Amino acid sequence: MVVNTKIALVTGGSRGLGKNMAIAIAKKGIDVIITYNSKKEEADSVVKEIENLGQKASAIQLNVADSKTFDGFFESVSSALQNTFSTDKFDFLVNNAGIGIHNSFIGTTEAEFDQLTNIQFKGPFFLTQKALNVMNNGGGIINISTGLARFSSPGYAAYASMKGAIETLTKYQAKELGERQIRANVVAPGAIETDFGGGVVRDNEQLNKTLASITALGRVGLPDDIGGVVAFLCTEDARWVNAQRIEVSGGMNL
Ligand SMILES: NC(=O)c1ccc[n+]([C@@H]2O[C@H](COP(=O)([O-])OP(=O)(O)OC[C@H]3O[C@@H](n4cnc5c(N)ncnc54)[C@H](OP(=O)(O)O)[C@@H]3O)[C@@H](O)[C@H]2O)c1
Repeated sequence: MVVNTKIALVTGGSRGLGKNMAIAIAKKGIDVIITYNSKKEEADSVVKEIENLGQKASAIQLNVADSKTFDGFFESVSSALQNTFSTDKFDFLVNNAGIGIHNSFIGTTEAEFDQLTNIQFKGPFFLTQKALNVMNNGGGIINISTGLARFSSPGYAAYASMKGAIETLTKYQAKELGERQIRANVVAPGAIETDFGGGVVRDNEQLNKTLASITALGRVGLPDDIGGVVAFLCTEDARWVNAQRIEVSGGMNL
């Protein structure tokens, strides 16, 4: 029996959580397309790492803030599907790419608000809409949110609101795409040591300790704590998991 290898597309796969997700997905025997915004070299080395695991991989440039580029992006995806993966559709979309802007509700500027909207909400909304043309039925969408959409921490009003919006969108996607057997779920990491927000969780010792102290398991998260959960959602074992928000925070702010 010929089993078709599934393919996942992970946005922001060049670094941090997206890189970890892409590699964890490859370890499940799934091929991967990653996107990068500016860090081509990092993306190319993730592709090599995935190929060394025995899976096919490709890296494509994408700025999720600019929805006008999405048609061109999906032309590149179609070429990669044809040339690298010998097929015309992929199965899983992981909306991971993102940035954080730390500012109080009072201090947030319209420019910051618009930038966060474009990257964290408008981008994934329309990227997913267009992705559906090149996705097989029976796959899935995984939207990356944050613990900050459940609890509040001063300085994240705009960022966390966008993540709240994507959590609501996920339920609508699950409802409307069920007829295509496409599942939609949210993975919401807690504070994780990456470059995110200037690398504060990793590099600011005091903040790191404070975050560890409000986490039931007594430390902040590492990228390795996250990728496997996203990879699980791309497997047959997760076939009945739909419209769920899975927080992966070690139990923050319980
Ligand atoms: N780290 C945390 O504590 C944490 C907690 C909860 C949720 N999250 C969420 O997890 C996701 C990944 O965060 P991370 O910690 O891995 O961040 P990161 O280490 O800073 O990596 C960000 C990734 O997103 C890409 N990216 C940034 N802006 C982009 C844009 N305009 N268009 C396309 N790609 C863009 C980057 O591409 P380049 O490398 O090419 O620049 C990179 O691959 C984000 O959605 C974030 O909100 C993070």
